[in-house]
Amino acid sequence: MTSEEIRKKYLEFFEGKGHKIIPSASLVPENDPTVLFTTAGMHPLVPYLLGEKHPLGVRLVDVQKCIRTGDIEEVGDSFHHTFFEMLGNWSLGDYFKKEAIEWSYEFLTDQKWLGLDKDRLAVSVFAGDSDAPFDNEAYETWKSLSIPEKRIAKLPKKNNWWGPAGETGPCGGDTEMFYWTHSTSSGQAGEEVPESFNDDNSKWLEIWNDVFMQYNKTTEGKFALLTQQNVDTGMGLERTLTVMNGLDDNYKTDLFWPIIEKMEKLSDKKYEGENIKAMRIIADHLKAATFILGDEKGITPSNTGQGYVLRRLIRRAVRYGKQIGLKSFTKEIAEVVIGIYKDVYSELSKNKDFIFANLSQEEEKFEKTLENGLKEFEKRYSIRDAYTRIISGLNAFWFFSSFGLPKEVFLDILKEKQNSEEYFKTHLKISDQFNQEYDEELKKHQELSRTSSAGMFKGGLSDAGEETKKLHTATHLLRQALENVLGEKVMQRGSNITAERLRFDFNHDSKLTAEEKQKVEDLVNQKIAENLPVNKVIMKKIDAEKTGAVHAFGDKYGDEVSVYFIGPSLEEAYSKEFCGGPHIQNTSELGTFKIVKEEAVSAGIRRIKAILE
Ligand code: ALA
Repeated sequence: MTSEEIRKKYLEFFEGKGHKIIPSASLVPENDPTVLFTTAGMHPLVPYLLGEKHPLGVRLVDVQKCIRTGDIEEVGDSFHHTFFEMLGNWSLGDYFKKEAIEWSYEFLTDQKWLGLDKDRLAVSVFAGDSDAPFDNEAYETWKSLSIPEKRIAKLPKKNNWWGPAGETGPCGGDTEMFYWTHSTSSGQAGEEVPESFNDDNSKWLEIWNDVFMQYNKTTEGKFALLTQQNVDTGMGLERTLTVMNGLDDNYKTDLFWPIIEKMEKLSDKKYEGENIKAMRIIADHLKAATFILGDEKGITPSNTGQGYVLRRLIRRAVRYGKQIGLKSFTKEIAEVVIGIYKDVYSELSKNKDFIFANLSQEEEKFEKTLENGLKEFEKRYSIRDAYTRIISGLNAFWFFSSFGLPKEVFLDILKEKQNSEEYFKTHLKISDQFNQEYDEELKKHQELSRTSSAGMFKGGLSDAGEETKKLHTATHLLRQALENVLGEKVMQRGSNITAERLRFDFNHDSKLTAEEKQKVEDLVNQKIAENLPVNKVIMKKIDAEKTGAVHAFGDKYGDEVSVYFIGPSLEEAYSKEFCGGPHIQNTSELGTFKIVKEEAVSAGIRRIKAILE
């Protein structure tokens, strides 16, 4: 079965159960300071899980592109990835545990759908603790579907609780589904499937998770019951594809194999033995990088936020590329990635040139970094005297913080030197506490940067803090004011809101003059003074477009959309935008709007930071 067939079957199955198909949202969340990337299908749906009405109703299904970097060190095994696709279905206060579990089971085992072997299935349910009780309903439902008791594990929060995606937001106990994997294609006899489920054995591969989102984690760390009982499920496409094809390695499926083949050709090395790990990491990281660069939001490699993650992914891939003898190869791999996904994610082909240019540029930059790091290394350690130098974790960290040289690369250089010259072998010694010293230094560094951006983690639209709501409404006024002052071609390129400020990126070729800035500020304040009401309507997408409402940049929409407008009526509104909210009720609540910064982000893109006083 191909990846395309699984995507189709999933959407079709849940459509048959009354779900509406929604498109994949951007990888870069708008207006949510709690996470850098969309990490799960539920993420773009947070307002609706918290009670906002979704224009398409209470049953939704989609295939969502996701990035998770928490497991980046695990990448290199057969099933962990930074980029993956999540198949998901949602009940927004509609059906609950019984239906969700029964449908999961039907989809997995029915011959008409995936037709997986029932005897290889195992599940886990939430065991209960002081925050929430044991999930007896899930347990009983699985039993009624003839899953043997030995294959139903009761596990604690650490295993069977999901969310929130950020610090606060919707979450709940979950039930997870596992499949006993063995390779039928490698010619080796698969290991007998054990009678009991054992959560430590990775041959029991988790393929699906049904989360019962009944709680909202508050800023005080409490679990408050939500007004509605939601279901949020997530099935990993890559893993499902693997088990459907009797494989035990995600990289051997159609979502990865063409990339591996390309690497084999470029490096003249085989995907086996000592090359496997490097090839997996390169394939995973460059796929993720291609998707981040292709995501319409124009993220480029940098030292902060999403750009930093992108930079690390590319550089790590280049470093592993060196290990198997690859040079100037990132663009060629990206080409293959685009080929695999072009029919599903058209943005990749559309932004092909941007993807290629940024990959090649970053690859070159990293080559320079390596060169400079090497020179510095020579300068520091090549003084030949009688002393033995201890190389500490602190030294390595300095190379990282000043030259961008990753720890592993630093150690590689050291090893190379020692292998090439006897002097270095006898006179350079790695400190016994090297890793500990490095980690401590890194932690100190991170704490510093966390304190300076502490504000970033406070609010977030997920807990709909009043301040963020106000700034969100102010963002709509600002967008319209910019259009009025600078002309119609001004378009939003990104938006980010914390409890303290709004940040708005838009395309414009030159720095705003003092006069333009003043005009924009005055116009927003004038609209605030007009006490305009803020309202939402739900309408057909084509009708919404006819009203002149503007799209959020890079987002895709279903047939029905919600439009927020600021003004007495939709016809006379000052601002109209496709938007999921939330907003305040009336502009009079906003106070005084003030632009605190106007700067360039990249060629043709300006950024405004503004506050409400
Ligand atoms: N949100 C759940 C997950 O990511 C489904 O596993």
